[in-house]
Amino acid sequence: MSTPKQSFSYYLKLLYPFVKKDLGLLFFGLFAMLVTSGLRLLHPLILAQIIDHSIPEKDMGQMYRYGMYFVVVVLLSGLLSYLQIVLLSRLGIKIITKFKGDVFRHLLKLPIPWFNKQPVGELIARVESDSERVKALFSDLSITIIGNVLFFVGVFTVLFIRQWQITIYIMPLMIVSIIGYGYLFRYLSKFYRQIRERYANITAKITDYVQGMQMIQALNQQQRVIRDIETASAQKKALETRTSFIEYGSQSVFMFISNVLFVIVIIMISAPKIIAGVVTIGTLIVFIQYIYQMIWPLMHISENVMQIQRSFVSLKRILELTALPTEEDEFTGKQIPVFEHEICFEHVWFAYKDEDWILKDVSFCIPKGKKIALVGASGSGKTTSVNLLCGFYAVQKGKITVDGVALSELDFRAWRAKIGLILQDIFLFPGSILENVRVYNDSIPADRVKNAISIVQLDDFIQNLSGGISSELAERGQNISQGEKQLISFARALAFSPEIIVMDEATASIDPQTEAKIQRTMERVLEHKTAVVVAHRLTSVLDADEILYFSKGEITDRGTHSQLMQSSEEYRKLVELQLLQGDA
Ligand SMILES: Nc1ncnc2c1ncn2[C@@H]1O[C@H](COP(=O)(O)OP(=O)(O)O)[C@@H](O)[C@H]1O
Ligand SMILES: [Mg+2]
Repeated sequence: MSTPKQSFSYYLKLLYPFVKKDLGLLFFGLFAMLVTSGLRLLHPLILAQIIDHSIPEKDMGQMYRYGMYFVVVVLLSGLLSYLQIVLLSRLGIKIITKFKGDVFRHLLKLPIPWFNKQPVGELIARVESDSERVKALFSDLSITIIGNVLFFVGVFTVLFIRQWQITIYIMPLMIVSIIGYGYLFRYLSKFYRQIRERYANITAKITDYVQGMQMIQALNQQQRVIRDIETASAQKKALETRTSFIEYGSQSVFMFISNVLFVIVIIMISAPKIIAGVVTIGTLIVFIQYIYQMIWPLMHISENVMQIQRSFVSLKRILELTALPTEEDEFTGKQIPVFEHEICFEHVWFAYKDEDWILKDVSFCIPKGKKIALVGASGSGKTTSVNLLCGFYAVQKGKITVDGVALSELDFRAWRAKIGLILQDIFLFPGSILENVRVYNDSIPADRVKNAISIVQLDDFIQNLSGGISSELAERGQNISQGEKQLISFARALAFSPEIIVMDEATASIDPQTEAKIQRTMERVLEHKTAVVVAHRLTSVLDADEILYFSKGEITDRGTHSQLMQSSEEYRKLVELQLLQGDA
């Protein structure tokens, strides 16, 4: 982690758009802070006034008046500091909510290749913790730091005016204690970091174990898992105990030394002056009171500085994320796609990275209204072809054309809108069946959803649910079967009335009975549509207009089922293998 090199004003400029709308609130908060710091300065001065004047002059009226001022000042500063915390925290929460929203909106627009490079869980966790640190920058941290700086400036101004001779003796003491505590904090930081790492490690372990619960129970591994977590926790506990011993021990010693030291020094310096009548007892009280109020914030200066640095590093990281180019920036085609004739792969070469060619000189066409099937061993490049067709990645050599126009020239959203994509890994959103079919697109009328549902023959299933089409699905659809999920994803593709249906291994993880049902449904789904089907089970491709046999990134054979049975030994083997397993 590098510390930020840019100047403070650079960051202020970056932050400005987020506070722009709430400048009024910000200034009011800062104003409240200024007044609170002023009031904090005032109460020792009022006490001094009583001690130096009201009491020696035996003026009871004046004493009551100052007493009243004292009460008012204390009440007012309490009220204002409450107000400032509430206002600035609200501002912080508001800013960070918008900030997180912006980050997430930006993430949604990033190109798919970028997500392949990131462990997503880690990314989300980082965005979350970085945002929290940025939030502290706007609320607690800024309140503490700005408030204390204002207070310190005030304290030294008042002290200098009242007694500069005493003040210059205290200054070096203060600087020494700030530096001393800074070292202590730096020493402790190592422990804090180790504790955080151990904590993250335990959390990661628990997440993994919970996800693999079924396997753990099946293999009777509960004891081992418990021991593992216990060992990790015990290590963390030992470290935490040790840290808190050092932390609180050294803090108490520090507090004691600095309190006693400061007070002794002040009394030693001022005593002769008080006796000589140059310094009043009130001034002594003011000094001691100020010192007491300053010690705690002073000790935490280095901690606050480090927190601020960390917040800025977090801010920088998030801003880097939001500066990444989006799909709009990368796919600049503007032409509205027209698909009347055919989509063609023309000598397409593609690699996910460098020159690791995954597709090697692949050429084929998908005529409108025809059904094309992609078969072959896993890892042969079928899904990759589908990804390219949908425009998730750009080809490196050759091109994909739609009625002769290169995909890169087309508006990528308009192109994807023509495609109904059905993936093996079905993604269901939290929400009702209706919402899942039309994916929160309210412009799709309920009739069309019902129609799509009856085409995929889910009517009976839905009628048996108590909530009908509005029944809620559990997280990722855990309350329905794999086959039902599959059918919902078919209905989803249909509800958007796509011109082209693309299915990737859509029937891979389903039992034979459900598969037969899906088979019949698929025929209805694909009727009058252009279709690209990646098939694991060959049953779904027997009637394809053309079957492309993929092997290691190349199309080694192509033709109808009966043609391939004649011409391709590999295809024949695949068919026989599935017949043996009773799959086809
Ligand atoms: N996102 C990715 N990044 C890097 N390599 C990938 C990625 N996706 C797939 N591959 C590699 O590309 C090859 C083809 O994969 P894929 O197209 O998914 O095959 P299929 O769908 O035919 O099983 C495999 O060797 C796979 O490891
Ligand atoms: Mg695949």
